[in-house]
Formats: sequence, structure tokens, C-alpha cells
Amino acid sequence: MTKSLLAKYNIAAPRYTSYPTVPNWQIPGPGQEEWLLEVKKTYQEQGIINLYIHLPYCEQLCTYCGCNKRITKNHAVERPYIESVLKEWAMYVAALGEKSVIRELHLGGGTPTFFSPENLSFLVEGILHQAKLAPDHSFSFEAHPNSTTYEHLRTLRSSGFNRISIGVQDFGQDIMLLINRKQTTAEIYRVVEQSRELGYESINFDLIFGLPRQKIDHILTNIEHLQKLRPERIAFYSYAHVPWKSPSQRAYDETDLPRGDQKRELYETGKRFLEEMGYEEIGFDHFALPQDELLIASKAKRLHRNFMGYTPHDTRLNLALGVSAIGDSWGAYVQNEKKIEPYRERVENGELPLIKGYLLTKDEQIIRRHILNIMCKESTCWLNPEVQCADLFAGLERLKEMEADGLLQIDGHCLKVLPAGRPFLRNICLAFDQHYWKHEVGAGRFSEVV
Ligand SMILES: C[S@@+](CC[C@H](N)C(=O)[O-])C[C@H]1O[C@@H](n2cnc3c(N)ncnc32)[C@H](O)[C@@H]1O
Ligand code: SF4
Repeated sequence: MTKSLLAKYNIAAPRYTSYPTVPNWQIPGPGQEEWLLEVKKTYQEQGIINLYIHLPYCEQLCTYCGCNKRITKNHAVERPYIESVLKEWAMYVAALGEKSVIRELHLGGGTPTFFSPENLSFLVEGILHQAKLAPDHSFSFEAHPNSTTYEHLRTLRSSGFNRISIGVQDFGQDIMLLINRKQTTAEIYRVVEQSRELGYESINFDLIFGLPRQKIDHILTNIEHLQKLRPERIAFYSYAHVPWKSPSQRAYDETDLPRGDQKRELYETGKRFLEEMGYEEIGFDHFALPQDELLIASKAKRLHRNFMGYTPHDTRLNLALGVSAIGDSWGAYVQNEKKIEPYRERVENGELPLIKGYLLTKDEQIIRRHILNIMCKESTCWLNPEVQCADLFAGLERLKEMEADGLLQIDGHCLKVLPAGRPFLRNICLAFDQHYWKHEVGAGRFSEVV
């Protein structure tokens, strides 16, 4: 990538896990009845759901972290929290009126493995007791190497979990120290070996480029470990610096953060070696080995993306339980209370703990589809009048300069992202984002695209 392109396009922009993006949602957003109507409508159309459960606790604060978490060493919080999650689930079960069919179940956080294996098993049994499973179902969870015991892995495997996502971030102990993350290389190896022994079908590593004081040497060391461990998937995230949202990121010096070209080089180096090792890039921050379902879906142009990242299935109804969790019915989004106490209080009162959300207009659903196509397939077409709207044409006008810069090609009724445009998928989507152009706000809300 040329330096001038990077300088020109490295602006603050959303990651487009939703459209409209979260800062544009309304408070309070759809009410409980309105949301449940949307949920029922989508369930009637597709007959299938994905379920995300947010488990927010962690024992220690990693200062780089941008997730919603609560730090505590008090494990007495586990059971009451799970009981609230199960009550929240019971409200959806009552609304769907039958044993609904689950395709994907994902435990995220915080740190799901903060919870004891017994409590996790109690949670999963409580959910599945009131559900059926799709034939192609798949269960996954986020595992912090430091708190994932053999017993966690064994219990979750016997509860049906077949995928594990290990939070590695970087193998460098100097970086771990700097971001206050307790994790050894030996623990990562142990979790991988035990997961394989127990029959987990797919292991994902979360890795980050752009961490404080991260150098090319760190990336090369990471690559050496990857050569030995060969996880099926790798999420290679760009470090998101959002100190206004995650003040703990102020714990390190901003001048220690690789920026611009330096940061991009970390990515390019990682990408080059991953490709040499047989990994292929999916979307803009994922890699997978050829036999992986995600890569097969990507090649068949069946890739989809939701709040959890890329997935091989276009599941329209994504229900989310737990504090701060985000639900998506395709026509509407909702987010739960972000603090544990009001979340639990509202659930205990028999109420869905919604705090914000958005009901999409028909045009916004059209733009949402085009943004998804760009993020997942690096192309989108609008020959059919049903996928045309004024916002689409306004966006195409804004892309003239990027087209002239060789980032994309607009041919008749189709837009195709060219290889040089791949690092700038977020910029391309931005062109269609009417909310962004109305307010022209990016900095102070989103991280930079590179
Ligand atoms: C909830 S955390 C992972 C689970 C577990 N708590 C752990 O630390 O291993 C989800 C992932 O978000 C990513 N993440 C968190 N903060 C980030 C940031 N500021 N920039 C980029 N990625 C971030 C990390 O890769 C992390 O593994
Ligand atoms: S990175 Fe994981 S363990 Fe660390 S604070 Fe964030 S959620 Fe908790």
C-alpha cells in the first residue's frame, strides 16, 4: 500500500458490525412489545436463531481492553448473574411460544471462563432445556488462557461446544506486562493441546496488531508460535484506541502506540507470513485455513457478518442475553443495560432490560444489505430496483475519488473492491452511511480504520 493512500484514508470510521452504527441508535429505542414483534416476525420467516450470551466478569483488568466488563475476584456473583440471564431467556421463550431452534450459541465477555465449569454447565442446560438445535448447530466460547482449566474445556465439550476462541493478543511477555494481562505462552499451548485432545473441531486465536510498543519482531515471534499451533482461524484485529470509552487505555503512553505506516506494517507482515503458511484472508480482519467452514463460505460468496464477527450463515435473528448485549432481528437492533445492577433489577422485575436500539426504515435495510455485501463479498450490485434507494446513489457519487485512486471499480450496476481497496473497506461503507454524512462525526467516536 502506498504511503499517500494510507495518509489520505486512515480516518476514524465505524467497523460496521451494524448499520446504522450504535452511536446513531435511539434512546430508548424500540420498546419491549415492538422489539418482541420484530423478533417473532423474523422467527416466523426463518425459524432459526443465533444466541449470544454476555458474561461480563474478569479477575484482572487488561488495560488495552475495549469490551464491556466488570473486574472482581468475588466469584459469588456468578450464580445470581446466570439466574438473571435464564430469566431473560424465559421472556424470549414465552414470546416465541415454542421450543425455538438455535443454530449458533456463543458465550462472550468479559471472560466466560471466569465462571466455574459447573455454573457454565447450569447456564447452558437452562438455555437448551427450552430450545431445539438446528442440524448444523455450533457452540463456541471465548477463553482466556489464564482462567481456562481442563475442567472448563471438558465440561463445555460435553455440553456440546465444538469451537473455542482463545484470547492470545500477542505472545510477547513484555507487551502482556505493559497491558497488565496475566498470561503465559505455556498456558496458551496447554489450552490448545487440551482442546484438540477433547475433540474441539475449530480453534480460533484473537491476535491484535498495534498494541503499545509492539514491533515487527513481536509479529515474527507470533508467527513462529502459529506455525507450531496452527489454529484453524485467526482474528487479526486492529488495536482500537478509544480512551474516551475505555479510560484504562490511558495507562500507557500514547506515543508508544504504533500508528499509520508503522501500524500497517505490523499487519502487512503478519498477513504475508500467514498467507505463506496457507491461511487465507476473509473480510478485513480474519484468516482461516482452507478446510475451514468460514473460508469455504467466503469463497462461495455465502459469508455473513454480525456483532460477533464473520459467520458462514445468514441468520437474521440474533438474540443476545446479558448485560450490554446487542440483539438484531434484521429490521431492528436493541441493546441491554450496560451496568450489571440495573440489568439484573429490570430482569428480576420481569422486564426486558433494553436501553437503546433502532428500527430500520426500508432504505436503511437496503443500505445495510449493501454494506454487508461490501464487508463480506467485497462487491455489491443494484440491478434489481428493490435494492436501489437515494442513499445508495448518493454513496456511489462519494466513491468517485476512491475509484480514481484505484481502490474500487464501479461497472454498470456493480461495485467491486480492488485489492488496493481491501484495507479501506470501512471507508467504502462510510460513503453510504447517511447518518455519518448528516452529522460528520468520526473522531472521538470510532477508531481509525488502520
Ligand atoms: C472479550 S475479549 C476475549 C475474552 C477474554 N476476556 C480474553 O481476554 O481472552 C474479546 C476480544 O476482543 C479483542 N479486543 C479487546 N479490546 C480490544 C481493543 N481495544 N482493540 C482491538 N481488539 C480488542 C481481543 O482480541 C479480545 O480477545
Ligand atoms: S481482555 Fe478479556 S480478560 Fe482482559 S479485561 Fe478485557 S475482557 Fe477481561
